[in-house]
Amino acid sequence: MIRIAIFGFGAVGRGVAEVLIEKRDLLNGLIGDYRVVAVTDSKGGIIDENGVDLRRAIEIKKGNGRLPEGVTTLDVIESVDFDVCVEATVTNIETGEPGLTHIRECLRRGIDVVTSNKGPLVVAYKELVRLAEKNDAKLMFEATVGGAMPIIKLVRNDLAGNEIYSIKGILNGTCNYILSRMEKERLTYEQILAEAKELGIAEADPTYDVEGIDAAAKLVILANSLMGMDVKFDDVERVGITNITPNAFEIAMEKGYTIRLIAEVDRVEEILRVSPRLIPIQHPLAIGGTLNAALIKTDTAGDIVVVGRGAGSKETASAIISDLVELFRCRGL
Ligand code: HSE
Repeated sequence: MIRIAIFGFGAVGRGVAEVLIEKRDLLNGLIGDYRVVAVTDSKGGIIDENGVDLRRAIEIKKGNGRLPEGVTTLDVIESVDFDVCVEATVTNIETGEPGLTHIRECLRRGIDVVTSNKGPLVVAYKELVRLAEKNDAKLMFEATVGGAMPIIKLVRNDLAGNEIYSIKGILNGTCNYILSRMEKERLTYEQILAEAKELGIAEADPTYDVEGIDAAAKLVILANSLMGMDVKFDDVERVGITNITPNAFEIAMEKGYTIRLIAEVDRVEEILRVSPRLIPIQHPLAIGGTLNAALIKTDTAGDIVVVGRGAGSKETASAIISDLVELFRCRGL
């Protein structure tokens, strides 16, 4: 029996809970029996060692209600027995908190962590990896980059043995949505940002999206975890999309190009950058809507391109669930 605690019960945490309910039969076949023994958010939580009533917890939050007060995430970590933490609290790139403390405290106790939270990995990747190793715990973070688009495990597992020269991609669905709508409708980014917020893909603070902060954070995670680099958020050269006008698309399109916010890490050329770039309209990175894409250049496998839905509750849950399954496979939990 795998006992799971979910920290953060916003769109991602609830998406995970929904998949755990809806796909119980399939998941039982993959990871055996499981139970969620605690769910918390920033204001409260539910602990039930016999299994939290997830449907009820989802209903409470969907109705804008609150989880019962008086239960904190740190209480759960200290007093509840569980095997895996799903850390899905809100990203803070500067401090990594509150996720950083949650992840540290779980790893210290040998509890495996699956997270969608970019902040702790951007702030303290090396420290967390060492902590996990020291305590024989696993730290899984597929959901931090690219939503449903496979990239971390794809590179680590399916491209194992390859040297990764560079990764160039579209890592922010909100900007991609805004730019592809600007391309078609010639609206300003402010007009379209409102739509992106409605789609539920923009960050809580959408300046994280449009100023390239979210994409830069993901780039740092890719560089450090897949390319053996040791880079910090401030090392990323970063320009967002706020100065792009609908007119820029007219000029680009006349010459057969479009404009996309490209995140790029290149070991050979020593590039670590997020910026709007001209992309030929037939290029694999000239994708539309909320999609993410990545072009991975390797020594042995050559070029690999992946495309997928980069944001959203269920999409991010897909990455978290795939980490849970991988955990089970390597641990036989
Ligand atoms: N705001 C992010 C995006 C969500 O638009 O890609 C996923 O990290």
